[in-house]
Parts: sequence; structure tokens; C-alpha cells
Amino acid sequence: MTETQQSTALDTLLEETRSFTPPREFVAQANVNDPEVYARADADFESWWEGWAKKLNWDQPWTKVLDWSNAPYAKWFEGGKMNASVQCLDRHVADGNGTRVAFHWEGESGDVRTLTYADMLAEVSKVANGLRSLGIQKGDRVAIYMPMVPELAMTVLACARIGAIFSVVFAGFSSTSLKDRVQDQEAKAVVCADACWRRGKVLDLKVVVDEAVADCPSVENVLIWKRGDGIGTAATGDPRDVYWDDVVVPQPTDCLPEVMDAEDILFILYTSGTTGKPKGIVHTTGGYMTGAYATTNLVFDLKPEKDVYWCTADIGWITGHTYIVFGPMANGVSQVLYEGAPDFPQQDRFWALIEKYQVSVFYTAPTAIRAFMKWGDQHPAAHDLSSLRLLGSVGEPINPEAWVWYLHHIGGGKCPIVDTWWQTETGGIMITPLPGITTTVPGSATTPFPGISARLLDEEGNEIKGAGGGYLVLDRPWPAMLRGIWGDNARFEEAYWSRYPGIYFPGDGAKRDEQGFLWILGRVDDVMNVSGHRLSTMEIESALVSHEAVAEAAVIGVPHELKGQAPVGFVILRSGFEAGPELADELRKHVGTLIGGLARPEQVHFTPELPKTRSGKIMRRLLRDVAEGKAIGDTTTLADPGVLAGLQADYEKGDS
Ligand code: WT7
Repeated sequence: MTETQQSTALDTLLEETRSFTPPREFVAQANVNDPEVYARADADFESWWEGWAKKLNWDQPWTKVLDWSNAPYAKWFEGGKMNASVQCLDRHVADGNGTRVAFHWEGESGDVRTLTYADMLAEVSKVANGLRSLGIQKGDRVAIYMPMVPELAMTVLACARIGAIFSVVFAGFSSTSLKDRVQDQEAKAVVCADACWRRGKVLDLKVVVDEAVADCPSVENVLIWKRGDGIGTAATGDPRDVYWDDVVVPQPTDCLPEVMDAEDILFILYTSGTTGKPKGIVHTTGGYMTGAYATTNLVFDLKPEKDVYWCTADIGWITGHTYIVFGPMANGVSQVLYEGAPDFPQQDRFWALIEKYQVSVFYTAPTAIRAFMKWGDQHPAAHDLSSLRLLGSVGEPINPEAWVWYLHHIGGGKCPIVDTWWQTETGGIMITPLPGITTTVPGSATTPFPGISARLLDEEGNEIKGAGGGYLVLDRPWPAMLRGIWGDNARFEEAYWSRYPGIYFPGDGAKRDEQGFLWILGRVDDVMNVSGHRLSTMEIESALVSHEAVAEAAVIGVPHELKGQAPVGFVILRSGFEAGPELADELRKHVGTLIGGLARPEQVHFTPELPKTRSGKIMRRLLRDVAEGKAIGDTTTLADPGVLAGLQADYEKGDS
């Protein structure tokens, strides 16, 4: 088919797919198919969650389900004791499921490893013993900088086993970003890989780690796992460097788990906020595990004895924490884990993997789906995808075109799609269809998960009832909610709980349609969503300003065909520097080096001035209007309205 034919076909599909009712066979076998579940959970949300907590293994039961008296600092399952790694490993082995595959791992160049739950328990125990041998104890922080290899999941679970607080840093982040995160949490150790494969090239991760830890006195050891074949340049002679082969491999395969309090910290995960400094989101043990277990079970309708589940996220993001490591493993399902890029060696790699491993539940992001659409229908068509029974989407609003394409070209027109809205902070899925209940509509995340309460408010905090748009808020605590920002309670209270006192404000706008379904409209703060990942405009601005040529910078997110949004920079140069495509390119690279490739601006525009209010605040809204070629909005608060005309003229000239 030509591109035009493909898009006509898509228009027809859109026309024909106004909604999707789960097929009778799906409903019949679903983990939950009774719509009453919503009313039951709402009537007593504490006992709803308590019911889920009871499905986990506790060393000691809780004395109180929820203590919200010290809001916004929640305590769930107080007095309860458990270990998160035991939920994910020991209990499956104890139940006789040790021989079930935990991971079908595939390296980018086709190397394959199969690890059962019993294998994982043995390996995790070795890593845990290894970490203990390095002096890591309960409460110590361990930063992890690894690619998508089983050792990443092992290290995460090993930390959980010994009560060390882990913090995974996505391996696409720069050394500066890694350094900032290691410093903020004062990590005692960094666990890394020497290298990994990406699109056929070796990425030398150890070089990044070396640069980062040069400035991190808290780090006593860097534990290095070798990807193999000597592809990385591991050795530097730094006495802190120790090797997996020496520290982990000789360890015994059993390790007594640390008994953790329900409210002991499990991990810190950094995410971008509205300032230049990332926030270390804190999650604790019992509530997080309960939320992860329950949402994975119901939203993905898992049947651990027969499903093969694949979430394509990186474990470095919250999606990988909750929906690769803790949720699916607590449920005991078999998973696919893939190291590399979706278009390597060819653009059908994902479909080949689904066919090979008979994947039944597949969870990916709209940005990926849009790329698949662009690569062409022939790639999925060349593979047998009939093993699939359920599809998921996460990270950003999914446009109806991508939704119907996903349903028909991947899901064979028969798989329900769960569009799941949530955040690093929420720990687990909050707004989502339930696949055996909800008749879905392309583009809508539909309704809150049972037990979750979401509302829409206007500027003043009045509730918008019925159809309408507003700020999305969550006005009832939930077990997997964040417990704070590492080392910065003031920021925690300010960022999430001050816009509407006592109510959690996620930072998204949303609308409700006539039938009560929610449509997420995107961020309403200075945070953008690039390929399903959160980036702060301020962080990119500080990166630009740190370049010697830049006097001032403003960054906005503009709509992008594949990425959803892409950063665009507006820059005022210092005198003596000359605007031009070369400098623009240098600045784009500079941001990439400082933060990571994801943050690299799509374009950098030079301008003599930026639109500002009289008090000196940059009006990004007006820059967005310029970038989107829209009529310029309200400029009454602008100090110098003339600035915009110049900007608009420059912008139209393109990247210079
Ligand atoms: C932000 C959270 C949750 C894992 C991935 C991102 C946006 C996320 C959806 C969705 C519309 C979505 C929101 C949210 N978002 N999922 N299904 N529909 N928007 O985690 O980096 O913490 O970002 O991603 O804007 O606030 P994150």
C-alpha cells in the first residue's frame, strides 16, 4: 500500500471504530467483569485495598489500613511487615512455580537467555549477598545505571531484599544527570553495566559513570557488570571499581530477606518538575506493592499460568518499576525483556518477538505506536500476532488514529486496549479501562481504577460536574501514592498539595465527556511530555544558559508528529557570539550532553528579546503561539508587545 492508501484506510477505520466493546469470550474469562466492582470499592476504599493487601505474603499483619491524620503524608498498612522481593520471587517458588519462566530475555543482536522464577531467586540472592559484602545495609542508597538486561531487574530486587533504597537512573541520561541524582541521594554504591547495544552500536556506559562519580564522595563502590565480549572500556584503575564476577558470582544462592516495615522506603525515582532540579519521588514498601499487584492483576487481566506479558518500557522509568519488576513479578507471570531498539535490525523487531514468544499481553507507548504506523502496515502484517489478547498504552494521551491502528493492525480488531493514565508519583495506574468491563472510546483513558477518586476543578477550586474541562485532581489517598520528595518535604507539599489545599494535584488538565469518560489533555505546568517522558522546561533552559554563548533562554514544548511534544529553544546570545545554524546545532548537542538525548531541542531559535511580563517572567504561552503559528493570544501583560512581531518573523525563517 502507498502512504495515501494507508491513510485512507485509517480514516475508514476511524469512522468505523467509534467505540469498542470487549468481546464476550474476553469478558467471560476476565479477572473482573462485574461493573459492581466500582461501587463496592467506592463504598469502602480502605477495605477494597485491604483485600488486595491480603493477597500478598506478610511477615506480620498491619494494625491499621490507612493513617491519613498527618496528610499529605500517608501511612498504609501500618505495623505490617514484608519484603518486596519475597512477593516477586520466594512465594512463587514456594507455591511450586519455580520452573515458570520469569524472563525471556533477548539481546539486541539476538542473544537469548531464559530465566525461571527459581533462577531469578538464586541470582537475586547472589546479588543481595554481594551488595551486603560491600557493606550495603538497610536504608543505604544504591544508584543503578544499567541497560535492559536481567541483571537490572536482579539488582533492583536484590536491593529490595536487603532493604537498600534503590534509585534506577535511565541509562540514556548523561553523566551530569547521573551525578546530580547520585549526589542528591548520597548513594553509597553505583551498580552499572560496562556497556550495552543500541541500534547495532556499543554504548559505553562505564565512561558516563566514571565521569559522574568523579564528583560523588558518598560513593564507596562502583559495581560493574560486564555485558560480555569485552565491549565496554571498564577498567580505569579507580579503587572504588569492583566487578560482578568477583563480588556477585561466588556468592551463595540463598539470602535471608530483610524484614521491612510497610512504610520503609523501597525506592527513589527522579522525575522532572517545574524547576531545574529533578524531584526524588519516594515510594514505600507495603502500599506500593499492594497497588502494583492489584492494578497489574486487573488492568492486564493476568493469568500467570499461561500469559506471556511484555511491557516495552525501560526499567529506568516508573512504568518499568511497576509494570515489569514489581507488578508482573508479584503476580508471577512470564515476561519478555528486550535490550534494544524497536527498529533493529529491522522495523518489525517487536512483531517478530511477539510471534516468537507468543506474547499475549502487550503494553507500549503512543510515541512507539506512531512510529510503527509511519514504518508501515506491512511489518506487523508479516507476523502472526494472534497470540495477543490485550493491549495497553501509557505515557501520553493516545490520539484516536494511533488507537484504532493499534486495535486493528496489532490487536487484530479483537484485543481490548487499556489506555492507562498515571505518573511516577502515583506509583501505579490511576485512570484506565478495565478490559473485561469497559466499552472503550479511542483516545479516552475512561474512568478511575476502582477505589481511586478523580475530580475536575476550575481555577478557583469549584468542582466541574458532568461534561466539561478542568484541572484533574485526586482527592482520596491510595496505597501506592508517593510519600514525599527525597530530602525536600517543603517542595513535596508545595508541588502537589498547595494548588488545592489537601488535594493531590498531578499537573494535568482533563475533560469529561457526556458519558462520564475522562480525556487527559496534557500538562498544565512547565513540564513537557517528550515521547512519553517528562522533561522540565526550566531544566533545559538552565542547560542552554550554561553554554558560554547564551545570555538568556526560554524553552517550550511544541506538538511533534512522533514524539507527541518536542522541546524548542529561544535563545538570546551574549555579545560577541554569532547566530547561525552551527551554533544552533552546538547548543542542541550541549543540552543532549548535559541532560540526555531526550532533552535535545528540536530547534534553537536566536532572538534579540523574549516576551516577558512587566515583572520579568517569560511568557511561554506566547512563545507557544509563535511556534504553533497561531494568532498571538492575550498580550496585555506583556512589557513590550513589539517583541513578538520580531520573534514571529524570525521563527518563520526556521532554525537560525
Ligand atoms: C505524565 C506522567 C506513568 C508512566 C509514564 C509517564 C502523562 C501518562 C498518560 C495517558 C495521557 C498520560 C501525564 C502524566 N501521561 N500516561 N495514558 N494519557 N497522559 O510517567 O514521567 O511520571 O509522567 O505523563 O501528563 O502527568 P511520568
